[in-house]
Amino acid sequence: MKTLLTVIFSLFAFTCSASGKTELMHANIDLSDNTSLKRGAEHYVTYCLGCHSAKHIRYLRIAEDFELNQDVVLKDIAPVGASIYDSMLSAMDKHDSNIWFGTVPPDLSLIARSRGSDWLYTYLKSFYRDDTKTHGTNNTLFKDVGMPNVLWKLQGQQIAHYTLEGENKVINSLSLERPGELSPSEFDVVVTDLVNFLEYVGEPAKLKRQQMGKYVLFFILIIGFIGYLLKKEYWKDIH
Ligand code: HEC
Repeated sequence: MKTLLTVIFSLFAFTCSASGKTELMHANIDLSDNTSLKRGAEHYVTYCLGCHSAKHIRYLRIAEDFELNQDVVLKDIAPVGASIYDSMLSAMDKHDSNIWFGTVPPDLSLIARSRGSDWLYTYLKSFYRDDTKTHGTNNTLFKDVGMPNVLWKLQGQQIAHYTLEGENKVINSLSLERPGELSPSEFDVVVTDLVNFLEYVGEPAKLKRQQMGKYVLFFILIIGFIGYLLKKEYWKDIH
C-alpha cells in the first residue's frame, strides 16, 4: 500500500513539474476599495480599451457602484465623447486587429471569471523582451502571446534568464533590465487596481452581495436575539 501511494505521489509530482507551469502570484485585490476600483477603471480606459471592450459594463453602472458622481465618471474614466449610457466598447476594428496581432483581442467582461484574478495579475507582470517576436515581447504565462506589453513604460523592460535542459531553453526568472516610470511597488499597485476592476466587471453584483451580506448577518443576529428572549418568556412559567 505504502509503495503504491509513493508511486502515485511521485507520478503526481512528476506531472506537475513536467508541465513547467509558471507559479501564479497572488493578487491582493479588495472589491470594497472604491478608490482602487476607480483607479483600475481609469487605467483600463487608458491602457486596455484601445483594444479590449468590456461590453457588459456601462459607465452609469460604474458611477452607481463606485458611488461616484456621473460627471466625475465622464471626466476621469470614460473616453472623451462617451455618454454615461455607453457600454465600455473598444473602437478597435476587428479586421485591422487581425492584421496587426494575428488575432482579435477578446472582450474582457468575463475574463476574471474564466482566468481568475491571480492569473491576470501574473500575466500582466510576466511580459519580457523577446526580439524574435513581431512586437518584441513574449510572456512566460501566455507563450507567444499576440498582445504587446502595453504597460512597459510604467514597468520598464524585463528580460528572461534561461537554463538549458538538453536542447530546450527553460526560463528560470525574469529581471528588470531597464526601469520604467514607476518603482516595482508602484507598478504592483497599478496592476492590482486593474485586476480589481476586472474582477468587479466579471461580476458587478458581487459588490452589492458583499454589502448585503453584512445586513443579512445583522438581521439574523437580531432575529436570533428576539427568538431567545421569546423562548425565555414562554418557558418562564413552566420551569
Ligand atoms: C494593442 C492592443 C492591446 C492592448 C492595448 C491590450 N491588449 Fe490584451 N490582448 C491583445 C491581443 C491581440 C490579445 C490576444 C493574444 C493572443 O491570443 O495571442 C490580448 C489578450 C489579452 C488577455 C488574454 C486573454 C485570454 O485569451 O485569456 C488578457 C487577460 C488581456 N489581453 C488583458 C489586457 C489588459 C488588462 C490590457 C490593459 C492593461 C490589455 N490587455 C491591453 C491586445 C491588446
